Amino acid sequence: MSKEGKVNKITIPVTLEMKRRGEKITMLTAYDYCTAALLDEAGVDIMLVGDSLGMVILGYDSTLPVTMEDMIHHIRPVSRAAKRAMVIGDMPFMSYQVSVEEAVRNAGRFLQEADAHGVKLEGGREVAETVRRITSAGIPVMGHVGLTPQSVHKFGGYKVQGRGDMAAKKIMEDSKILEEAGAFSIVLESVPAGLAEEITKSLEIPTIGIGAGVNCDGQVLVVNDMLGMFEKFTPKFVKKYANLSNVMKEAVKQYLDEVKAEVFPGEEHSFL
Ligand code: KIV
Repeated sequence: MSKEGKVNKITIPVTLEMKRRGEKITMLTAYDYCTAALLDEAGVDIMLVGDSLGMVILGYDSTLPVTMEDMIHHIRPVSRAAKRAMVIGDMPFMSYQVSVEEAVRNAGRFLQEADAHGVKLEGGREVAETVRRITSAGIPVMGHVGLTPQSVHKFGGYKVQGRGDMAAKKIMEDSKILEEAGAFSIVLESVPAGLAEEITKSLEIPTIGIGAGVNCDGQVLVVNDMLGMFEKFTPKFVKKYANLSNVMKEAVKQYLDEVKAEVFPGEEHSFL
């Protein structure tokens, strides 16, 4: 909040300045109005409407079935909730790989129809021209390298990437290429901490790590993971800051018991 009581919104120049100052950038995923409003109020810098919603919200086994319509449906309420945070929409599988024209049109839909401030897409050299064209249209792009979940079948699972000289060199080169293509930031997912640090030092734009060590310019987690709401599996890089699944189950059990026992609703919750 500024002295005049205005909200100081997080913009791309602000994130670049944060990197220069050495101030860490905080990012969490959000998929609905209620959660996004809480995250924004708590002071998160960037809310990512990740295609991880395919797994934690829609119950798929991967992010691959997520569509443009799914994404737009979930970006809209997050944008409505964001007073200060930057809102980034994740481009789903097959929304940017077929042609550059289709990618630009789909990226534009996130800003035009869902009020996002930018888009994120996965890949390095192979998406450089797409990143260049989307950013030329005035749409900010966040890159994503390392473990890119839309390529899960190519990797043969959700495995750490960038181990060994050749693999590390490729991720380093991809990061550089994305910066040159105009990306304003890059997510580094599941890469050795030393490699992430090297990449972070070599770029002007901020890196946001997930399973990439402490020396990235910022960190991101899936909100349902860090709040302990998603029980199907927990990657090594997740720290659970709460155990909301227990809190929720206990609350629901208490409600069930009270309804059965005619304790709820009491007089204070009834109209007399
Ligand atoms: O989809 C997502 O939530 C992501 C983050 C984990 C970076 O891509």
